[in-house]
Amino acid sequence: MARITASVYTSHVPAIGAALDLGKTGEPYWQKVFAGYEFSRQWLKDNTPDVIFLVYNDHANAFSLELIPTFAIGCAAEFAIADEGWGPRPVPVVKGHPELAAHIAQSVIQDDFDLTIVNHIPVDHGLTVPLSLMCGQPAAWPCPVIPFAVNVVQYPVPSGRRCYNLGRAIRKAVASYDQPLKVQIWGTGGMSHQLQGPRAGLINREWDNAFLDQLIADPATLAQKPHIDYVREAGSEGIELVMWLIARGAMSEEFEKRAPRVAHRFYHVPASNTAVGHLILENT
Ligand code: DHB
Ligand code: FE
Repeated sequence: MARITASVYTSHVPAIGAALDLGKTGEPYWQKVFAGYEFSRQWLKDNTPDVIFLVYNDHANAFSLELIPTFAIGCAAEFAIADEGWGPRPVPVVKGHPELAAHIAQSVIQDDFDLTIVNHIPVDHGLTVPLSLMCGQPAAWPCPVIPFAVNVVQYPVPSGRRCYNLGRAIRKAVASYDQPLKVQIWGTGGMSHQLQGPRAGLINREWDNAFLDQLIADPATLAQKPHIDYVREAGSEGIELVMWLIARGAMSEEFEKRAPRVAHRFYHVPASNTAVGHLILENT
């Protein structure tokens, strides 16, 4: 049977992608950000899964106000890199895993979660920047990736509680797949940031670190946090953090009320307008 071996959490700041693509990672400003991922790149080499289930949000690139799926699962064999206005990032195409994606869709939809099946979804910085942070600049990504897009852009957006329970349904779906695949689930976006209005530039270190502590040790209680707390404390784009609860909900049941193994933890301000947070949790 397939199983979830670990979960990875990381911010997806688009300027990080630009820094990599333009060869600026050694500059003092960016060096401090990339230093937090040195461990992670080696860890991923040592723990390469068969498939990455990558929870992220589209930023009005694949979707628009014409079509707003709350949860969309990418079931295609391949996903193009989105053109976000200055050409697609020069990164490898993303190969999918149609069989596992279809199985997860079947199981999770039968478990009463409404997923939208997507076969054409160009992937934007929400998905490619986490891959770049964890993999560097390879000729091909190390394994197939199932894109799982969550609407955290246009309200109404799903609650943390629903995201956490969806993660549990994904755990069950993976565990019932009849192939011995090692699957990682990544939760991306966040941490505190606000890109608009009078509070643009808002960062809340204390809140972010309390979020990380609780995500590790007591996610079931964290999942009860209402949207308004995210927006008030972590800024309008801080709401992206509900996606981390999907990945955390997919960790082993035994860790629902106590901490899993923390392989790595990193927090840094600033990266563009965003606080960068990063965690690796292992199921073993
Ligand atoms: C920034 C962060 C984001 O999450 C995003 O989607 C766009 C921009 C930023 O910090 O600049
Ligand atoms: Fe974003």
